[in-house]
Amino acid sequence: MRIDCVTIFPEMFAPMKASIMGRAQAKGIMEFNTVYLRDFAINDYGQVDDVPYGGEPGMVLRPEPLAKAIRSTGIKEDGGKVIYLTADGVPFTHKIAEELSKESHLVLVCGHYKGIDDRIRQTEVDMEISIGDFVVSGGELPAMVVTDAVVRLIDGALGHKESGETDSFAQGVLGWPVYTRPEEFEGKKVPEVLLSGHHKNISEWRRQESLKRTRERRPDIFEKLQLNTKFGDK
Ligand SMILES: C[S@@+](CC[C@H](N)C(=O)[O-])C[C@H]1O[C@@H](n2cnc3c(N)ncnc32)[C@H](O)[C@@H]1O
Repeated sequence: MRIDCVTIFPEMFAPMKASIMGRAQAKGIMEFNTVYLRDFAINDYGQVDDVPYGGEPGMVLRPEPLAKAIRSTGIKEDGGKVIYLTADGVPFTHKIAEELSKESHLVLVCGHYKGIDDRIRQTEVDMEISIGDFVVSGGELPAMVVTDAVVRLIDGALGHKESGETDSFAQGVLGWPVYTRPEEFEGKKVPEVLLSGHHKNISEWRRQESLKRTRERRPDIFEKLQLNTKFGDK
């Protein structure tokens, strides 16, 4: 998969070189590029923004540099998706991450200031994603969140594929509690069942803990669990 991020702050993407994202690139599972918006500026001063029509504080990213930057990636020819990260977009979920992990080319457009000229949203953007009901200063952090959540679902990205399959949301419920050595830490012991070596009991304990967590922390998800599914016999 190839991911291009259109941004005025390419240096913010340094974390993409680390950890699982760094390894995914080294293994050739993902190619990650930044597209510097100022390379498509309207003048020699590198201007890419302007004052909002109608008058209000803040600046808006102009449409011409954005259109050129997006088109420079060849995304339309590739049949990929252009995604604008925006607080008023569709809430990002595991299901969306799964769908996006099947694409071969994504362009992530990072807004700044008041956002981007709406005409770009109307003509160039295929999908708009929000990472939550709050506003951050730019689309770079949301773009990295989306990239990480998507790429870790691609075969070969994780050291152990099964590890991702039992994470929260992958099976429709929250994950179970995890423990490691030592067996006792400051008076608190690891649950006996995890030390038993009895795989069926461990599996049943994990299932119950997942359901308990989901019921307590995400009643909205718990209520929608289907009967007769692996996790649904509430
Ligand atoms: C300060 S915000 C602009 C907020 C915008 N005026 C609004 O009311 O939604 C600047 C940029 O950060 C990004 N952004 C902010 N919050 C976001 C969120 N929750 N999810 C995704 N992107 C977000 C968008 O790319 C946005 O253009």
